[in-house]
Amino acid sequence: MTIADTSVAAVAAAAPTTNSQLIEWVAKIAAKTKPKEIVWCDGSEDEWKRLTDLMVEQGTFIRLNPDKRPNSFLARSKPSDVARVESRTYICSQKEIDAGPTNNWADPTQMRATLAEIFEGCMRGRTMYVIPFSMGPLGGNISKLGIEISDSPYVVVNMKIMTRMGQAALDLITEGTEFVPAVHTVGYPLIDADGVERPDVPWPCNDEKYITHFPETREIWSFGSGYGGNALLGKKCYALRIASVMARAQDWMAEHMLILKLTNPAGKTFVVTAAFPSACGKTNLAMLEPTIPGWKVETVGDDIAWMRPGEDGRLYAINPESGFFGVAPGTSMKTNKNAMLSLEANSIFTNVALTDDGDVWWEGMTDEPPAHLIDWQGNDWTPASDRPSSHPNARFTAPAGQCPIIAPEYEDPRGVPVDIMLFGGRRGTNVPVVNESFSWEHGVFVGAMVSSEQTAAAEGAVGSLRRDPFAMLPFCGYNMADYWGHWLRMGRLLGDKAPRIYQVNWFRKDSAGKFLWPGFGENSRVLAWAVGRVAGELGAKTTPIGNLPLPGEFDVSGLNVTDSQLDELFSVNRDAWLAECDLTEEYFQQFGDRLPPEVAGQLAALRQRLQEA
Ligand code: OXD
Ligand code: MN
Repeated sequence: MTIADTSVAAVAAAAPTTNSQLIEWVAKIAAKTKPKEIVWCDGSEDEWKRLTDLMVEQGTFIRLNPDKRPNSFLARSKPSDVARVESRTYICSQKEIDAGPTNNWADPTQMRATLAEIFEGCMRGRTMYVIPFSMGPLGGNISKLGIEISDSPYVVVNMKIMTRMGQAALDLITEGTEFVPAVHTVGYPLIDADGVERPDVPWPCNDEKYITHFPETREIWSFGSGYGGNALLGKKCYALRIASVMARAQDWMAEHMLILKLTNPAGKTFVVTAAFPSACGKTNLAMLEPTIPGWKVETVGDDIAWMRPGEDGRLYAINPESGFFGVAPGTSMKTNKNAMLSLEANSIFTNVALTDDGDVWWEGMTDEPPAHLIDWQGNDWTPASDRPSSHPNARFTAPAGQCPIIAPEYEDPRGVPVDIMLFGGRRGTNVPVVNESFSWEHGVFVGAMVSSEQTAAAEGAVGSLRRDPFAMLPFCGYNMADYWGHWLRMGRLLGDKAPRIYQVNWFRKDSAGKFLWPGFGENSRVLAWAVGRVAGELGAKTTPIGNLPLPGEFDVSGLNVTDSQLDELFSVNRDAWLAECDLTEEYFQQFGDRLPPEVAGQLAALRQRLQEA
């Protein structure tokens, strides 16, 4: 097998750019990884067709029935490569303290040495794709540029959906323009250093995995996984971990938040952002169909928000992505009609089941499962099988523009001004369905306190309670306590123009373990209450933990929720909250003197309010 000519002159001759720094970087990576060829991605439909055809031919993709799901494909990953690998995700800051106690830190010099070794010849026999992309609308002042180099065509086509990818982004990366360099390999060369060849496999990956970030130099290097956030480096690696570092330096915010536009019956619009840990229904909330009459939701984003103060002093948000990488199981016409309509065509499905007529299915899609399926591992499956047909973290990748309720502002580079921010988690006990923070500072404390029952989006014991401050635990590129400090500083910058902060919880259960709140479209009632508060139309009952709805002002009309269930939903158990304070104090201790005094002060104040209650 050949190795591409990786001299700068040869790379420059074939490059659709004259940016010499960029060309030199690409040549350097190619010289290290030794691919058989270098392909610059233009983001065109032709390219999509060429690569999807190639993957069908190679067995990575199964083309779905074009009558049922046009231009859509199913991929099955290796069972050892099905989720983000947090244990192999590293923040390589110069100083360990700058990564903080909640990140895996690795010494940057040592990590560079490791990477130099494992990237050596890692693309032998493969094509190296150069993938230019913009996070956010092209040329917008909140948007940012990046280049991912990858040896995975699966990554290329997913990046086409998830980002503004291709020549137009490359054209913006002129000499001297800032861009984040991100290098990815599946770590499965087809030829070894001695020239021995091996055949490709449908899902190449490596048992050894490294997802590494260098915050000071703003670089990403990812080795060994082809899956989701490990491989689509624009998403978690750039738009959250590296962007959070940039945002702190440049007075903006990179958050694990959906963005939705809400219109009330009077026609007034409000923008809500919401942070929830992975796989807690962010996509469902972003695409919510309100059950209360006269309200409308439009989607701006379902996972990440980049926010910057505008000239009027308000905080403006964009969705840096252009697609949804959503958890498939549980998504149905009942739970999220708009997501289902978004993925009717031009979509990629990973680790879901295949129906006998060439379509996809997953647990929860329909009440009745089909009589026969091929499961996510390629085996026959029937409803009598003792395992699910789809992996719990199976995903769809669908273009955001296909969402029937996508807000026109989603394409607006200026973004949308944020009125309300929600922090949520999956909590069976203690946390009311909605709770208004007393102030921005109190809201930051509430965000810092978020914990949630673990889901399948990352490896780990599903169901165990894990602290996930601001839903950023696996995504903050620096010391979490400094991140809280950045939030406090942004609050001071925004002053009285800062959005109002609410804690929400759709998952509270009664003593019999039954959910107290119906969730889904009914969550519009929570949004309506928060909007009523922001608009100054509704009162509130002050409790030690925050402001709760006044009896009669939280709309439950037509809902099958009894008064006692409602009391339970909003009950504040003093002893349980005092215990929560003790646990929080213990949690905060690990941050030592990096913990902002305001956050410690908020904990002390909460404790005092509870004790005096
Ligand atoms: C995601 C996640 O994929 O948060 O969005 O894990
Ligand atoms: Mn997410």
